Amino acid sequence: MTTRKTAQIAALALLGAAALAAPGTARAQGDLVLYCTVQEEWCRAMVTAFEKKTGVKVAMTRKSSGELYAQIKAEAANPKGDIWWGGTGDPHLQAAEENLTLDYTSPMNKELHPWAIKQWEQSKKRTIGVYSGALGYGYNTKQAADKKLPEMKCWSDLLDPKLKDEVQVADPNSSGTSYTLLATMVQLMGEDKGFDYLKKLHKNINQYTKSGAAPAKATSLGETTVGIVFQHDMVTFVVQGAPIKVVAPCEGTGYEIGSMSIVKGAKNLDNAKKWYDWALTAEAQELGATAKAFQVPSNKSAKAPKEAPDFSKIKFIDYDFAKYGSSAERKRLLSKWDAEVKNLPK
Ligand code: F6P
Repeated sequence: MTTRKTAQIAALALLGAAALAAPGTARAQGDLVLYCTVQEEWCRAMVTAFEKKTGVKVAMTRKSSGELYAQIKAEAANPKGDIWWGGTGDPHLQAAEENLTLDYTSPMNKELHPWAIKQWEQSKKRTIGVYSGALGYGYNTKQAADKKLPEMKCWSDLLDPKLKDEVQVADPNSSGTSYTLLATMVQLMGEDKGFDYLKKLHKNINQYTKSGAAPAKATSLGETTVGIVFQHDMVTFVVQGAPIKVVAPCEGTGYEIGSMSIVKGAKNLDNAKKWYDWALTAEAQELGATAKAFQVPSNKSAKAPKEAPDFSKIKFIDYDFAKYGSSAERKRLLSKWDAEVKNLPK
């Protein structure tokens, strides 16, 4: 090879490296920056399938619902994410109200259940339902037998003094699951009684985790006797043989409309729309079950996993998403929980 040719190749290689390293370019970040708020395994399965189908490279970050809402807000002046997929609906609704996300009408809307479309209409087209899940809890049946605990069926059973330091739930500031619990108690019992309940429950809490589903894993491992989570997150461990009883509380319970939003100012807007339309297809939504995620899909033709909790057997409250997903109410309830519950002595 001539010296000139070698020099040319070296220069080209340098140019290539510089292009890859250039800060802020779409290439450096991937062709789509995804903020994902479901289980890591499901996020990964979605990314792999989308990349294969479209050839678009995805850079994915996984965090909890409240954390991603806060991140998108903090990045508003210079948005880094393109699409926020998954996570409880309330923080998506708050982001919509605060003008952090973009309105979009997908050609897929006609294939969705009315509850998914209601979320979209309520948010002025800025967020849409992708799945649904029922709140509840699960307990480790071996630990419960060892501790001679009675069978648990209701929210009230979790206040038993025998459960001191035996119940785990996430912090509602970071976790959408735990905010759903907070808003559910307020709606189920009224605000004063709901907060009384959470204060009493606090005595039995061993840890407020960051992620909503973490207590399900801890329950499966026997690190906690009870975990308060979405019921499908317990089922993930039941199907793997964990000694867990899943409970749909007798008093009634709240639920989530897991949602999706496009970040306002998305640098890769066309790809964000591509993801959005695809994530609403039956084909994409059926990937959940392959990753042991047993939420109920929002596409009418997507098969609900047979392991999914049977909604017809669960007593649901009429969860007011417009109110509890509003910016003022979510902020108010979280500050009140911080002030009155989180740091209470036990
Ligand atoms: O992926 C499991 C899941 O429970 C979803 O159904 C839910 O939207 C999300 O996690 C909530 O996570 P977090 O409570 O950590 O915000």
